[in-house]
Amino acid sequence: MSAVPNAHSGQSGRETYKVTVPEILKKKSRHEPITCLTAYDYPTARVVDEAGVDIILVGDSLAMVVLGHHDTLAVTMDEMLHHTRAARRGTQRALLVADMPFGSYQIDLTGAVANAVRFVKEAGAEAVKIEGGEKRLELIARLAENDIPVMGHVGLTPQSVHALGGFKMQGKTLPAAEQLLRDAHAVEAAGAFSLVLESIPAEVAERITAELRIPTIGIGAGPGCDGQVLVLHDLMGLSFGVHPKFVRRYADLRAALDQAVRGFCTDVVKGGFPGEAETTHLAAEVREQWFTRQKAGLARSSTRP
Ligand code: KIV
Repeated sequence: MSAVPNAHSGQSGRETYKVTVPEILKKKSRHEPITCLTAYDYPTARVVDEAGVDIILVGDSLAMVVLGHHDTLAVTMDEMLHHTRAARRGTQRALLVADMPFGSYQIDLTGAVANAVRFVKEAGAEAVKIEGGEKRLELIARLAENDIPVMGHVGLTPQSVHALGGFKMQGKTLPAAEQLLRDAHAVEAAGAFSLVLESIPAEVAERITAELRIPTIGIGAGPGCDGQVLVLHDLMGLSFGVHPKFVRRYADLRAALDQAVRGFCTDVVKGGFPGEAETTHLAAEVREQWFTRQKAGLARSSTRP
């Protein structure tokens, strides 16, 4: 990664170089795999950033894995901005991308651009992600013209869950695979700097990756993409419900958290918390005075009628 001064390092003294959009593009030409994970708040963004992940995506999957909705449709602009700001504070090295939520760009172009500007101006995002292929051509071009880098997203686009009839793999028939190829080319031609390929057959993803100049970031799209993305809560083992086949759990934080919470409850109930290690006492001389006064106070109260 080249030496790019970091505008986000502030006073913390952490990493002074960062991943930029041109660096992500160069990674494709150098055949260097791109890593991308979601994060939605300060601590998780900080851990992901410090681990050296290239792209942090404040995904609208937030609606499901953090806010407990059944799909991604309900999350609002205000909620996405709030979480992007928190992730911004934890991110110094990675490229920070904010997902535009459902309804924030399926409107007129002016409104969509204004919403994208809010992510950059009010929340510190360095790029936005937009779902859809050919139908988003004009919007992606308008954003790119205005120097807002765009990450495209085709295949299973969760914001289209009702139109698609569920969270189903896409591009399984020849016409559907060919449409995906056209969508991918449209996103690139419009000026996007990268493209998420979600839940599509590996052969289709591989072909798209070979034909595009911009990097593809796969999730459920096989190993032939330029990079891979996972939802952090799936990777950590802190998500609930059915897990797609493409998820690999790298930890079981749900079990670890459960054990920690149960440990706390047991200790409190049995008087084991707090112990001496977690307790602060008065200094010796103050302690002596404190007890002397207490005794005097008790003596006074015991002499009252
Ligand atoms: O919202 C999200 O987390 C995403 C990724 C799965 C790419 O769109």
